Amino acid sequence: MTSFSHRVEQVSISGIREVFEAAGEDAINLGIGQPDFPTPEHAREAAVEAIRAGDGDAYTSNKGTESLREAIAAKHARDNDLTIDPEDIIATAGGSEALHIALEAHVDPGEEVIFPDPGFVSYEALTHIAGGDPKPVPLREDLTLAPETVREAITDDTAVFVVNSPANPTGAVQSPEDMREFARIAEDEDVLCVSDEVYEHQVFDGEHRSPAEFTSSDNVAIVNACSKAYSMTGWRLGWITSSTDRIERMLRVHQYGQACASAPAQYAAEAALSGPQDVVGEMRTAFEQRRDVLLDGFEEMGLDCPRPSGAFYAMPKVPEGWVDEVLDRGVVVVPGEAFGERGAGYARISYATDIETIEEAIDIMKAATDAVR
Ligand SMILES: Cc1ncc(COP(=O)(O)O)c(C=O)c1O
Repeated sequence: MTSFSHRVEQVSISGIREVFEAAGEDAINLGIGQPDFPTPEHAREAAVEAIRAGDGDAYTSNKGTESLREAIAAKHARDNDLTIDPEDIIATAGGSEALHIALEAHVDPGEEVIFPDPGFVSYEALTHIAGGDPKPVPLREDLTLAPETVREAITDDTAVFVVNSPANPTGAVQSPEDMREFARIAEDEDVLCVSDEVYEHQVFDGEHRSPAEFTSSDNVAIVNACSKAYSMTGWRLGWITSSTDRIERMLRVHQYGQACASAPAQYAAEAALSGPQDVVGEMRTAFEQRRDVLLDGFEEMGLDCPRPSGAFYAMPKVPEGWVDEVLDRGVVVVPGEAFGERGAGYARISYATDIETIEEAIDIMKAATDAVR
């Protein structure tokens, strides 16, 4: 009988899914990783028009349509002060595929990938799928990743280190100095820095900077997506940009695994990236208000929570049994260990839901906290 590959046997279905499946139907869901806003109307319309005109029927170029890649390059000039050749961009099926092709193209069996612990679940899983060795590293007390930690973890076998700011699951935002240092490390150590910037617009304190701004070496790859910026998780449209050589190698993986990103989604993404950007600011303001409500709630509960400066997640330290108690009382939160060993003792709370629901959940979490203390 055909058995399963060693690589796939090392990966399990995300702990987040398990929590959702265990929750009752009318549970309040603070586990979700997507904004509760509609996709902007002009993005939807662009896809509808493309479909009606028959422009969504055929394969596009493997890298994506030229006009989408031009819109992505213009976005990087506008938001990140980066000059990027549209030829050095691959449009992907979300940020997820971008991370996948980055690791497939750069990691050999036995090579190491360094990433934050707790960190986004895909980093470890995709490292295994690429045949590499995951090397999760601890965070600072404020849940940011210290550049020195990365530098110390790098060995001759390190292929990639992943930086994610703003971060899932912590909501932490790296300082510009940290980002500069990550760029320096990529340069000094000649190791690829994959910078996952999918939450770049959700920053409340501080600012988003990309390591790519601080280096002219080809050792940075930026992963980004329309998913969180424009509430387009279902459209599956992201991208990766790096040096011409790296893009050419990643394109080999993308070409055979995906051919091209969905054509209608490419039209929607182009409109989202180049149309009015108001929705981005509106979402940021809403998330910031919700964060403040949630942080006040944690304070009242007596839970210590490193102040999240971005994304739409908070990661309080929670007492033993807290997550189960909260789940039993009908609020879905994700146990910190779903994001790595060092996530134990924390819970991830997503505040991508309205304030009323958050307030209702806070009352339930308060009661649960009293019950387990
Ligand atoms: C840090 C991070 N990177 C990448 C992704 C993947 O995003 P996408 O939905 O665009 O595949 C996610 C999704 O939750 C994420 O949290």
